[in-house]
Amino acid sequence: MRFQVLEGIPAIRRIRAELRRAGATVALVPTMGALHDGHLSLVHRARAEADRVLVSVYVNPLQFGPDEDLEQYPRDLDRDADLLETAGADVLWTVSDAEMYPTGYATHVTVHGSLADGLCGARRPGHFQGVTTVVTKLFNLVQPDLAVFGQKDLQQATILCHMVEDLNLPVRMIVAPTVREPDGLALSSRNAYLQPPEREAATALYRGLCAARDRLASGERDVEELRGTVRAASAGSPLVDWEYIELVHRADLTPQSGRARLPLAIVVAARVGNARLIDNIVVPEP
Ligand code: PAF
Repeated sequence: MRFQVLEGIPAIRRIRAELRRAGATVALVPTMGALHDGHLSLVHRARAEADRVLVSVYVNPLQFGPDEDLEQYPRDLDRDADLLETAGADVLWTVSDAEMYPTGYATHVTVHGSLADGLCGARRPGHFQGVTTVVTKLFNLVQPDLAVFGQKDLQQATILCHMVEDLNLPVRMIVAPTVREPDGLALSSRNAYLQPPEREAATALYRGLCAARDRLASGERDVEELRGTVRAASAGSPLVDWEYIELVHRADLTPQSGRARLPLAIVVAARVGNARLIDNIVVPEP
């Protein structure tokens, strides 16, 4: 199949019907564009799992708060198309806000409870409802056999897996590992906002996560001590403004206190200049 760039709902319905007739399995990689190697690793994983790979590029207004970066969010569809073609995707699909949310649009999908209320959910009201709503719509439009998301957005991926299970959506969910710069910074479209000194300071997130993981490995179990270990990675740099540093239960992402219990995830969010960055490390049971 030749790589195609398609736009709009009728086009995706048409290609999906063609692929069904051809008996092809379909993987969806949902993105908001401004693609980087992290996204391309999701495409490679999708390529390995399905006959055809569709990548949606849609900057979903529903998941941005009023004071967030919807307007500045980087957009470059031509570059995205070149990268996707080289990475072996079959279709780049875009859709307009007017088609996704026409006047009178009134339906939202909400995952309730601690999974969505804590961490980024507490700092970005409405964000995860925007994500679950758009992903449900993308699943209904594309009807993929499987979908691939990145572990960098651990809370998003966990909420989406929960939603798929709760709603019996016939989509196999794959969560693929975080891709990092050589110095450990997790790839993110928002890294583009970082000025050179901020880019250097942003390495504190992964350095802090690794330091806490190493202390866990050598037997430290005090949650406050381990949170302090993460925070210490930015000592001396006023450029890193931590939003949260938590050790959370792996299954439901609720914060731990007292003595750390495995499996867990160490999850962080920080503002560095104009970028809000998140990262995490999962620590399995020994
Ligand atoms: O992770 C993202 O890029 C977005 O949250 C997603 C899953 C594409 C939904 O808009």
